[in-house]
Amino acid sequence: MELTKQQKAILDGEKGETLAKVMKTLVMYGEAFDATKMVEVTSEYNHLVTSFGLGVMDPVYKLMDTLLSEGVKSGQKFTVDPRPLDPNVPTTFLQNLVFKLFMYNKQDFYEDQLNKLGLLEKDAFTCTCYMSEVGNTPKEGDILSWSESSAVVYANSVLGARCNRNSGIIDIMGSIVGYVPYFGLLTDEGRKADWVVRINTTKKPEAQLLGSAIGMKVMEDVPYVVGLDKWLGDELNEEACTYLKDFGAATASNGAVGLYHIDNLTPEAKKLGKKLLKKDVKEYVIDDAELQRVYDSYPVIWKDKNAKPKLCFMGCPHMSLQQLKDWTDTIEENLKKYGNSKVQIPTVFTAAPAVIKKFRETDYFPRLQSTGIILSYICPLMFMNNPLCGKMPVITSSNKLRTYTSSRYYTDEEIVTQLCKGGL
Ligand code: F3S
Repeated sequence: MELTKQQKAILDGEKGETLAKVMKTLVMYGEAFDATKMVEVTSEYNHLVTSFGLGVMDPVYKLMDTLLSEGVKSGQKFTVDPRPLDPNVPTTFLQNLVFKLFMYNKQDFYEDQLNKLGLLEKDAFTCTCYMSEVGNTPKEGDILSWSESSAVVYANSVLGARCNRNSGIIDIMGSIVGYVPYFGLLTDEGRKADWVVRINTTKKPEAQLLGSAIGMKVMEDVPYVVGLDKWLGDELNEEACTYLKDFGAATASNGAVGLYHIDNLTPEAKKLGKKLLKKDVKEYVIDDAELQRVYDSYPVIWKDKNAKPKLCFMGCPHMSLQQLKDWTDTIEENLKKYGNSKVQIPTVFTAAPAVIKKFRETDYFPRLQSTGIILSYICPLMFMNNPLCGKMPVITSSNKLRTYTSSRYYTDEEIVTQLCKGGL
């Protein structure tokens, strides 16, 4: 790999032994992927994926301690994924005990380390760091060192930034040293599409279901989606961006997509159109029957498949301000329709702390509260990722949450009915 004079100097230890080790790790990581060079991270801020103080993550804390003791700070301020716990989210006594004593017992310690390393602000915990309320929004062409899969796919596809699907430690290292290896989605060739996906549905496809279908088919390849602009339009407005946030998270988690192009809509597709297609591109056609097939293929791993749901999580990835407002309207209307005043299943909506702050300033906030829905900054996946919560019958319309936990997927419409009527 070719290194610049500055990069070589870091590797040779001119900025200390620890930075040299960090650089060496990044170079070795790049060489494993045939990277030709290291390129500068150009975004204003970074985003880290590791937000949770799990007791078993000692190597991470040791690495952070070494970096901090040598006065190393992240080259950029950063945001970080959502916190794993929130006292507002209903838990049993036992769950609470397990969380605090055995699982996230290093949370305060780790948050202190993050603050010292360069956390943007005290409450910069969210996976939707790119939202305007949070302010970590990369520009088109920016090179990033991120690894949260839902944020990477959004930054690459909707914002036109460039980032590989890194691991949690690599994102910290890239942020500290300020360089990342040049390969994969950082290159023009790596951003070309392997698949054309044709949307032939009779109505706007559910974002999380469509993303799931595409992710499971193309896995880590780049899809070029044709026909979705019929439903989303040709402008990246609030509605289209929200749809693509949820769609992208499903492609990234049900498969391993790091970049997609939407014909006539996303920045590179608008500029380059079909020139983005590789030779010998494969084709996948999605119609109503295909979406139904995908929906029907999801396994239900609850012990009692007919159990009444004990909890509903919505907002994985975190909801936008507009989503919170729209859901407030929908829940109110449907509660009225079914003659109820409160939701019939304990429900948590999740969003970034900065979005929640803005939402609290609107008159939607007391209206949502009066439906009984709880608003939280938590990561539902971190909450559920333990045997105690894993046993609970939880429902969600997030295909990422369905994939990684025992929660059961329903479409948005089915969720509304269950919450407001008490069943389907
Ligand atoms: Fe975000 Fe946690 Fe879901 S990081 S995408 S809320 S799994």
